[in-house]
Amino acid sequence: MDDKKGKQIKATVRELYGQIAAQHTSCCQPPEEASSCCCGDEPNDISNADLLYSKEELADISADIPSLGCGNPIALSELKTGEVVLDLGSGGGFDVFIAGQKVGLTGRVIGVDMTPDMVSKARRGTAAYRQRTGLDNVEFRLGEIEHLPVADASVDVVISNCVLNLSPDKPQVWREVGRVLKPCGRVAISDLTLLKPLPDEIRDMVESLIGCLAGAVLVDQTRAMAEAAGLVEIQLTPKPGYVDSMIDWNDPLYRRVVEHLPEGAKAGDYVTSLSITAAKPALTLTANTRELIAVGASVTAHCQPCLTYHVGKAREMGIEEQDIREAVAVGHQVEKGSMSAMTVFAKSVLDSSTQSNSACCTGQTSPDGKSCCS
Ligand SMILES: C[S@@+](CC[C@H](N)C(=O)[O-])C[C@H]1O[C@@H](n2cnc3c(N)ncnc32)[C@H](O)[C@@H]1O
Repeated sequence: MDDKKGKQIKATVRELYGQIAAQHTSCCQPPEEASSCCCGDEPNDISNADLLYSKEELADISADIPSLGCGNPIALSELKTGEVVLDLGSGGGFDVFIAGQKVGLTGRVIGVDMTPDMVSKARRGTAAYRQRTGLDNVEFRLGEIEHLPVADASVDVVISNCVLNLSPDKPQVWREVGRVLKPCGRVAISDLTLLKPLPDEIRDMVESLIGCLAGAVLVDQTRAMAEAAGLVEIQLTPKPGYVDSMIDWNDPLYRRVVEHLPEGAKAGDYVTSLSITAAKPALTLTANTRELIAVGASVTAHCQPCLTYHVGKAREMGIEEQDIREAVAVGHQVEKGSMSAMTVFAKSVLDSSTQSNSACCTGQTSPDGKSCCS
């Protein structure tokens, strides 16, 4: 997708979610008429959140904070006390506030959303959350999930609920997920995915985009993007229940979309909710790197037999002569560094013993009977 189209999509998404944040406390109803985005919450329906979250999880959530999602990423994430969690497209903060209670006092949850009104709404909810739970462990940052305002390798768990669809540059979002996760960090995402390509008219409907349908990609595309971002243990589990339950919703968007489907088709034939879990691999050293470290360490430790052994092993493994020499040079540098650090330390010890001599000026006498300070 070209940059101009991507910017247009983001502007549309931002404008509509801005309106939703500003005007509605219930789930995803655009201003002009009741409709859903990533959920189907009609005033008289059982809310989508009621179906997806446990009673305990919902008990502590303010009614002003609706879930705009299509799944329950918290249930997938197995959060533990003390973990750092990042919610992509955090909206009004529904999942952030639930996650905050799971990670507790020593944990932290960061929500990122590009719609200023959503971030303001979530920040307003933070005061009530603090009061209710006594926890000060959540924050909301304004930003795009394609350029996360979050440091490298700083997050234990990335969660997200029905947002990836809306991004015009999903491979970039996945690369960002890979960047911010710590080694062994994990992903727990709910999203909508396509079972087969959507008819063109539906893809073009803005409502579908806002309803997370038009932006949805095929399951295999999601797998390919997560793999390309270096993630492993990728599990993609379709959850048709969410889309199937739309049939019962008196939902104008759903009705409009269905009207444009081929005769006899239903939304669930094309789209399904998807649970995505994945992990970032542990920091692993290759066998070659380990051998080169051993070469350098042998030099630093002045261990001649070790050096002979590890240089021989490195050559046997086909490691370039230049790399072996560099490892020797690094080992030598470390040794020199520790020698000069030792010299500085020795000087400080000598200086302090001179000072302690002069510190004897407290009325003591030296062995020859003179006063220390005389
Ligand atoms: C369907 S709502 C989901 C909100 C929240 N996850 C929930 O479950 O209640 C989508 C949210 O994602 C945000 N969003 C969409 N595209 C985004 C992007 N590219 N970067 C950051 N936020 C984005 C929107 O502003 C909106 O708040």
